[in-house]
Amino acid sequence: MRIVTIETSCDETSVALLDEDRLIKHYIFSQVYHHRRYRGVVPEIASRLHSEKLYKLLKKLDLQKNKPDYIGFTRGPGLKGSLLVGRIAAEVIGNYFEVPVYGLNHLEGHLYSVEIENDRILNKLKFPLITLIISGGHSELWYVEDYGKYKLLGSTRDDAVGEAFDKVAKLIGLNYPGGPEIEKFASKCKKTTLRFTVPEVKNSYDYSFSGIKTQVSYYVRDKKKITLKDKIEISYAFQKAVVESLYRKLYLAVKNYKVYNVVICGGVSVNSYLRNFMVEKINKSGVRIYFPDKKYTSDNAAMMAVLLKRMLERKKAREEKNIEADLKVYNWG
Ligand code: KG4
Ligand code: ZN
Repeated sequence: MRIVTIETSCDETSVALLDEDRLIKHYIFSQVYHHRRYRGVVPEIASRLHSEKLYKLLKKLDLQKNKPDYIGFTRGPGLKGSLLVGRIAAEVIGNYFEVPVYGLNHLEGHLYSVEIENDRILNKLKFPLITLIISGGHSELWYVEDYGKYKLLGSTRDDAVGEAFDKVAKLIGLNYPGGPEIEKFASKCKKTTLRFTVPEVKNSYDYSFSGIKTQVSYYVRDKKKITLKDKIEISYAFQKAVVESLYRKLYLAVKNYKVYNVVICGGVSVNSYLRNFMVEKINKSGVRIYFPDKKYTSDNAAMMAVLLKRMLERKKAREEKNIEADLKVYNWG
């Protein structure tokens, strides 16, 4: 069973070729350099770059030789124009090879990124599980009863976690994307009394990260000059507060639902401080915690291929019948 997938939901153009449980080919073109000067993803630039790069990556899959049996593309959520580029390419290839084409949910794909290990696909996940999906656009807590059975427990009321990292980095003069920069500066912190807090959304699994960003902005405003020491301390205090806030709701979910696994995935899940903190805490509750291999945390087509493989195995995949641009889809499965 040969699966080809296309991922173009945001600022990574990616294609994958999966053969049974082996990832044969996988390419990612990251656009981050092109968006850096705007300190965020510019949708128009993103779709133009996808249309420019996608066919070059597809060519590398050598599909004449590696004829696909199934095609998958990311259907949403994501940037409309970018998604459309991937969708059209998938439909064209599907029609050319006369094979079925499937639209896939990007967030569900992140969940399956943990099943990729050294280019092998392993059947790791044990259901039910809780997944925390944290990236530049999403901060969501899901209860996953089984393959394809999802319940949204909570999400952010304002900024996504990665977005908060990016905004705080900007406030203290660090580069975009802010996540890796903040992690790097925070790791240099030996000692600080500086504390920030993430306001708690009461009686809910929801998150809110705009409050902490405001605290940092007032702190920065009240300082005459931001020194290197300030940058290090602010990064540390911010990262610590955000990770603790993520943990509090996650712990609540683990306590209230009987689950075997916890999966933390998405671009922010690459953060080592977060990983160490979560492993230490979650292990105490006897639940097994998984993170993706660091090279599969950001957007990629390999995770989408694993998702389609799992869906086909369970006959849950729904073939795309037409190409109308209803890209506001948000239902999983
Ligand atoms: O999943 P992703 O690559 O793209 C989206 O779908 O959004 O996530 C990108 C986000 C950015 O906001 C970036 O700052 C954040 O992930 N990020 C990190 C780290 N590396 C990337 N956040 C915290 N720590 C990191 N090391
Ligand atoms: Zn993503």
